[in-house]
Amino acid sequence: MPLCATLLPLRARTSALRALQPPLSRRVFSSEPHYDEKTVYQYASQQIKPVSIGQLLKYSAPPLTPANILDSVAYTQSELPVRLAKRVISFHNLPFIVGTNPHIARVYNQYYEAFDRLYSFAPIDSIEREQEFSRALERQTQILVDVIPTIAQGFLECKQYMAREERTAFINELIRSRIGLRVIGEQHVALSYQFRERQKPASGEEPGDVWVGAIHTKLSPASMMRQCAQMVQNMCELHYATTPSYYVDGDVDETISYIPSHFEYITCELLKNAFRATVEFSRSQRRLSHPPIQITITKGEGYVGVRIRDQGGGISKENMRNVFEYSWSTMQEDGETSTAGMSLQTNLAMQQGIGGPIAGLGFGLPMARLYAGYFGGSLDIVSMEGYGCDVFLKLRSIEGSVEQKQI
Ligand SMILES: Nc1ncnc2c1ncn2[C@@H]1O[C@H](COP(=O)(O)OP(=O)(O)OP(=O)(O)O)[C@@H](O)[C@H]1O
Ligand SMILES: [Mg+2]
Repeated sequence: MPLCATLLPLRARTSALRALQPPLSRRVFSSEPHYDEKTVYQYASQQIKPVSIGQLLKYSAPPLTPANILDSVAYTQSELPVRLAKRVISFHNLPFIVGTNPHIARVYNQYYEAFDRLYSFAPIDSIEREQEFSRALERQTQILVDVIPTIAQGFLECKQYMAREERTAFINELIRSRIGLRVIGEQHVALSYQFRERQKPASGEEPGDVWVGAIHTKLSPASMMRQCAQMVQNMCELHYATTPSYYVDGDVDETISYIPSHFEYITCELLKNAFRATVEFSRSQRRLSHPPIQITITKGEGYVGVRIRDQGGGISKENMRNVFEYSWSTMQEDGETSTAGMSLQTNLAMQQGIGGPIAGLGFGLPMARLYAGYFGGSLDIVSMEGYGCDVFLKLRSIEGSVEQKQI
């Protein structure tokens, strides 16, 4: 039986949820609330049209005119449904039992819902309708925001039903395509926002000063690291009732052209690992105080380097082979987590919207490496067993890869 057949009843639920949402005036939705398999396959059979960041940036070339915005939306509107349909179909090829996992089924439904919303928009020929589309796109991004922790939870629960290579290939493809979808979608939403801001009478900072669509051209790694470390400290405090301190040194005035949400994602994962390891090693060694975590920024030719140095006991040679594998974590072994892979505190924190798990999904490192590599960067770990880890992150300034990198 195809996986989609098992997921059909869930469509009724999402349709009901949609009915609860405020209607958008003049939006042309598909009138059929059922799973429209034929349409999904039809879209999925089309070729995607890879685009370089450089091409996306051409839409934002000053002056930002209605024609630029309409060109940008035309590409976005034709491209995203094809990419979303391909994702929906990719779930059909999962083993049946994996598809019945509620977390995986949920993500499947979210992708179908996203496809359904976007393909059914009539072609956009005015700035007013473009704004509606842009809003829908923004809402869509919000709906898909928890795809990664949800899918991570799903694969954690059913990793025994799929060969490692198959699982890795599926997840890598899902994440890569998700990065592409988000970059294209967010780039358009940001352009649309900037266009509207410029129509208003001058109000202080020009958004175009540092932003080119979703790319921040003067992102400060030092201040991003401080923000992320602060957030992780709060998570750590909540989870363990104690937290190490941190400091940032090196080329703290350096800036980079990058997408802030990517930077934040990668570094939060690395910091969570460093904070967790430090606290747990302190406990196991009966260390009276936690050594601080050192975050060093270095400037290179066209890239920024970040080294996160902790004294959390390091990673054993044996474990080192597994740390970049999806769904591999030492969190489950220590009995601190529930069967769902999360501690009670973490579940509470997630319900209150103040963060995900500090560890346990086994997605942090492989995903951080995938994200770092997406724009030509890298992620490496050097471990001194019994002492701590040095994690080296290298991020290329997006300016340097605008023409080569196809999304
Ligand atoms: N700085 C570090 N010091 C010691 N061990 C580490 C460090 N970073 C990662 N590890 C080990 O690598 C494993 C995998 O890390 P990863 O971030 O991928 O997953 P996780 O932290 O267990 O779960 P999550 O997906 O929630 O981050 C961890 O469980 C931990 O055992
Ligand atoms: Mg982690």
